[in-house]
Amino acid sequence: MIKVFDRFFGNSATTEEPCSSGSQNLEDAYAIIMRHVTAPPLRIDTHVDQDTFQRLLKRVETTWARLGQEDAHWSVITDDRFRKHSINGHIDDFFAMGEVDIARMEASLARAGVALSDIETAMDFGCGVGRLSIPLARKTGHVLGVDISAAHLQEAKANVENIGCRNVEFFKASSVADIRDLQKFDLVISLIVLQHNPPPVMLEILNALCARVKLGGYLYIQAQTYRSGYHYSVQEDLSDSSDKMEMHVLPQHLFLQTIQDNGLTILEVMEDGAAWSLDYRSQVVVAHKR
Ligand SMILES: C[S@@+](CC[C@H](N)C(=O)[O-])C[C@H]1O[C@@H](n2cnc3c(N)ncnc32)[C@H](O)[C@@H]1O
Repeated sequence: MIKVFDRFFGNSATTEEPCSSGSQNLEDAYAIIMRHVTAPPLRIDTHVDQDTFQRLLKRVETTWARLGQEDAHWSVITDDRFRKHSINGHIDDFFAMGEVDIARMEASLARAGVALSDIETAMDFGCGVGRLSIPLARKTGHVLGVDISAAHLQEAKANVENIGCRNVEFFKASSVADIRDLQKFDLVISLIVLQHNPPPVMLEILNALCARVKLGGYLYIQAQTYRSGYHYSVQEDLSDSSDKMEMHVLPQHLFLQTIQDNGLTILEVMEDGAAWSLDYRSQVVVAHKR
């Protein structure tokens, strides 16, 4: 099953090879595609008061500050090759994964008639250590990497200096107001970031990111939109004092509706398999502000 999953969602950015070899493969693929079609709705609290909102966001900041200090590259892609003690030998593999993600985005935008080389300004929201900012900077005029974690931003700056990339800057955003105060961009991209914030926070961030897209600009954004058994109760969440890496879901109707309510037209919704688990659904949306 996983082999088929890999062929659908795996590492090749450009493959056009159809999945047609053998009926067993096709049956497995069909089972994967159909796995959530009769799934029940998710119970999710989406609204909280301001104090609670700040508390939830502060917790995200504390967690990522810790992860950034302990093991920044591994916290971005949780593969043991990218642990602190082994990242030096695998840094090229780490950035190669970012190149693949940017190549996929480039292909999505090309299908919408846009060339990355025409993008003058891009924001990489939740940029981590620059895994996407660096390959994006090679193809666009200028990139602003934005993150809530100073420790990740420090690593990102070091990575940019090592590579000698000059058209990337970084900014620490600790609040949604910090995002809203930013300039507008031709392209806003955010991959594997929203999912680490509770749904009420995700929604506010998504609104703020949509508002930072210029008229005529594009949004390329990923969220986990389903997980079997997921629910979100603010009360339950606040009673959990651990600072583990949070994993949350934004149901697809809320994800798409929020983007549309901000005046963007959805051009593509693509399955992306970012969770590496068939329990989840993860999707990337390409949207345009006309
Ligand atoms: C899994 S990493 C992904 C990094 C990058 N997008 C990539 O794909 O390489 C998640 C990053 O998002 C950042 N992040 C999470 N929540 C955030 C928020 N509310 N505001 C800004 N950054 C956030 C974390 O600090 C971390 O650097």
